[in-house]
Amino acid sequence: MNNEKDYTMVSRKGSAPPAATRQTPPPDDKGPSSADRERAFLRHVRRLVQAQEHDFLAVIPQEMADLCQQELMELGIPDTRVSEAGVEFSGRLTVCMQVNLWSRTASRVLCRLPHFRVGVVGELFHRTAAIPWEYWLNARVPLLVQAHALRSRVDHEGLIGETVQRAVQQRFHDRGFSVPAAWTSPRQDHEDIDNRWVQRLLVRLENNRCVISLDTTGRHLHQRGYRVQHGGTPMRETLAAAILGRAGWRGDRPLVDGLCGAGTLAIEAVLLARRIPPGIGREFLFEQWPGHQPKTWDYLRRTARDAMFSRSPVAIVAIDQDRRAVRIARENAARAGVSDDIRWDTVDFLDFRPEALDLRPGLVVLDPPYGVRTQQDTDLAGFYRLLGAHLREAFRGWQVAVAAPTPELARSLGFRRKRWWHLPHGGIPLNVCFATL
Ligand SMILES: C[S@@+](CC[C@H](N)C(=O)[O-])C[C@H]1O[C@@H](n2cnc3c(N)ncnc32)[C@H](O)[C@@H]1O
Repeated sequence: MNNEKDYTMVSRKGSAPPAATRQTPPPDDKGPSSADRERAFLRHVRRLVQAQEHDFLAVIPQEMADLCQQELMELGIPDTRVSEAGVEFSGRLTVCMQVNLWSRTASRVLCRLPHFRVGVVGELFHRTAAIPWEYWLNARVPLLVQAHALRSRVDHEGLIGETVQRAVQQRFHDRGFSVPAAWTSPRQDHEDIDNRWVQRLLVRLENNRCVISLDTTGRHLHQRGYRVQHGGTPMRETLAAAILGRAGWRGDRPLVDGLCGAGTLAIEAVLLARRIPPGIGREFLFEQWPGHQPKTWDYLRRTARDAMFSRSPVAIVAIDQDRRAVRIARENAARAGVSDDIRWDTVDFLDFRPEALDLRPGLVVLDPPYGVRTQQDTDLAGFYRLLGAHLREAFRGWQVAVAAPTPELARSLGFRRKRWWHLPHGGIPLNVCFATL
């Protein structure tokens, strides 16, 4: 699918740009009516954007890519492939919508346009200007081009970014569109500009081969929309979901988040247990595209809503000794529509015993404070020792997943048989220790 000929057939004049960018035809214009031009435009959008298969990339750190690949397979997407950048897959835009809606672990989804070879800057300009951007880009959304070059004759990243930006503008100009103010205005406060969004174009030139990818997501996928408050050092929602996935928790046994903070792990657990898509409460960049199909998107969300469980089938408990943290977590959960699925407790986790709530063994997840003083012990290794002793004594038969900034700290838990997962978390290394007690 990724070949150059895909775009050669679209370089025809005469189709109408979206309303926001349409040039006013001169009064003596005897050309097609604006309704005809609108219809022609939509025909092109259907043929080039909606009906075609495209290549996509679900961006995700290597350490989590297998979890994301599994999610895609469960969505019925065939032929997924893990690459350096994430998980590659193909399909129509509907498939991209599904991944944005359903992936609990990916950071964002990119649409890769057909690649081409580039030897000189002029070639980059002309090949880019031949891409039918008017069917992809919303001229009300500011454009941000990010370039990366590796082992290529054209390797000045600033020049590459600038060239691509100019070529996109040229394309709009050549096709009879006014060049959008959103792309040229240094002050981006023009009334036509939708500042909630930025359309990222990622240009990668490697071994003289150029791939341009469009962001389809907008804000990072971990921003589900429910966590508008936190009390300190929250875990990314995507990481929380990945820890649950790595522990093999599927919403089929109880879960205790013993140091819940803003409630991320417990909330993600309910979303998973109730089969709620993590993206159900947010907007996506693809909704801004001229080729967006609101009916299809509504159908996908309606189908997902119809299949959700009305309540969590298992007990999910969130504990924090800090009253304010529990209040914030409850508010976050309420925004996600899952507060009633969680049993909340303001208590020292070291005093909590699962039999008090009649819980059968399940998973305990703990994200201890990073280097801050705890009430029990001013020394973090000491706190991990206390946690380990309490878990071994009170949670026999349970599985545990404990996050730690260093392996040494996690070793202080004193578990004899454990499994490690080392991964980056916003540039900071994180070690998750899994054990069955
Ligand atoms: C790193 S934060 C958890 C962040 C959480 N995963 C999130 O995403 O927001 C650690 C939390 O542990 C709580 N905490 C510390 N010691 C505790 C204890 N002994 N019992 C219960 N909560 C405790 C703190 O109040 C803090 O909210």
